[in-house]
Amino acid sequence: MKPPFYITTPIYYVNDVPHIGHAYTTIASDMMARFARMEGREVMFLTGTDEHGQKIQKVAQTAGIEPQAFVDQVSERFWQLTPLFNLSNDQFIRTTEERHIRSAQALWVHMTERGFIYKGGYAGWYAVRDEAFYAESELVNGKAPTGADVEWVEEPSYFFKLSAFQEPLLAFYRDNPNFIGPEARRNEVIRFVEGGLNDLSISRSSFKWGVPVPDEPEHVMYVWVDALANYITALGYPDEKAANFKKFWPESLHIIGKDILRFHAVYWPAFLMAAGLTPPKRLYAHGWWTNEGQKISKSLGNTIDPVELVENYGVDQVRYFLLREVPFGQDGDFSRSALEQRINSDLANDFGNLAQRVLSFVYKNAEAKVPTPSSFSEQDEVLLKAAQELLSRLRENFEKQALHRMIEAIWELVGAANRYVDAEQPWSLKKTDPERMATVLYVLMEVLRHLAFYIAPIMPQTSEKLLALLGITDKHMTFEKLNQKKLESGMDLPQPQGLFPRIEKDRKE
Ligand code: MSP
Repeated sequence: MKPPFYITTPIYYVNDVPHIGHAYTTIASDMMARFARMEGREVMFLTGTDEHGQKIQKVAQTAGIEPQAFVDQVSERFWQLTPLFNLSNDQFIRTTEERHIRSAQALWVHMTERGFIYKGGYAGWYAVRDEAFYAESELVNGKAPTGADVEWVEEPSYFFKLSAFQEPLLAFYRDNPNFIGPEARRNEVIRFVEGGLNDLSISRSSFKWGVPVPDEPEHVMYVWVDALANYITALGYPDEKAANFKKFWPESLHIIGKDILRFHAVYWPAFLMAAGLTPPKRLYAHGWWTNEGQKISKSLGNTIDPVELVENYGVDQVRYFLLREVPFGQDGDFSRSALEQRINSDLANDFGNLAQRVLSFVYKNAEAKVPTPSSFSEQDEVLLKAAQELLSRLRENFEKQALHRMIEAIWELVGAANRYVDAEQPWSLKKTDPERMATVLYVLMEVLRHLAFYIAPIMPQTSEKLLALLGITDKHMTFEKLNQKKLESGMDLPQPQGLFPRIEKDRKE
């Protein structure tokens, strides 16, 4: 039995509508969820919205709408990313749901029962934009290190004994060297924890928009306690006997942006240990996108609307670009010229052209049927083997979340196949050696079949389209099937269609 796979995105704040940075995290997670399903693993893929806290209360107030009505509206916009980007999330969680309120409160009660929560008073700095507390020593020119404005907060508050977890956390990082990726981020976290941990204020009493603290109606939970709990709510917590909880916890991979690493790598495992639960298996922090060299921000007015992008360029094209352009884990820059360049060169020229020239040649010159191969030459064997063996490279890189390397490896096969077409010249074999021509075309179609499977997690629509052009209509693709069933010679093929239209240079917005 293959291990189950639980993959989560951060839950998105609903203070603002989604932009491409949010879509990025979910698309990357979608690629991994789809890959794991093709491996025959049982997958739970979770995304959703983070709907409590001071930031959201403030924005709702400014808009003159009740917080619940406000979060209902904005959450819907995030939900719409699922059909827009063809995302395969199994659940969409909202922290205002009843099941989540119950779960966050149960987590709180368990932490209290085990002696890790006490009542006190907080006096210090708080940045509403980051929903984070900062020590005086962390401030830079009177602002949070992230640049967010801070305000002085003084109020009764419950505290979490984070200081008690310095040693347990360091031991946990040591015993689980794969807990945090990329490696550099792991070192960053270890250095931070080695520097000492202060207890954490985990309730607020100066506003109301949050999960009520059990038996303490004047307090709502600090939004990060509430938010992090979403990962177990979705599995049925507080029922630890729930089928999904037993199956998927702690087999989890939390995909996050680098800005929220500390919450996930320090607070979250500490909360879980405090409640007597096992921390998640792995976190992976990706980098941040800028837009044409500039930080993406609402105040700069340069957020990129995912809907407009998909309408203009196509869903698979945008998914491909985001996953291919920047090594997963590093920062990157979004630009229209880079996107158009990738579409024209990687998709239209390399991939699309390979499929087009093979399929239309077969359609016109080989009776529109899967050709019958005779004996394979050494070059044929080399290419077929490269197609088959690519899977093990994809698997290795999947384990490391090296998504860009998975794509690079696929494009190496595309390149090899294009070179093979040029070298074998099936068009000149038509008259001289039709038998050889049939073999060459069969080899190429088998390579296309492998490619159609391999690109499925990245570009699901294109994969389906290509499979249909190869006469395969089975929608439930697994890598096991890829290896079991070759193309059947003699099978009728539909009329070929292009996969990726080119973007013309003089096109105007
Ligand atoms: N609500 C918290 C997460 C709670 S998880 C228990 C939050 N929300 S957020 O909406 O502000 O950010 C969600 C994710 O979007 C983060 O992982 C963040 O890194 C990512 N991104 C937001 N802008 C981004 C870019 N410009 N580029 C890449 N990712 C970005 O934090």
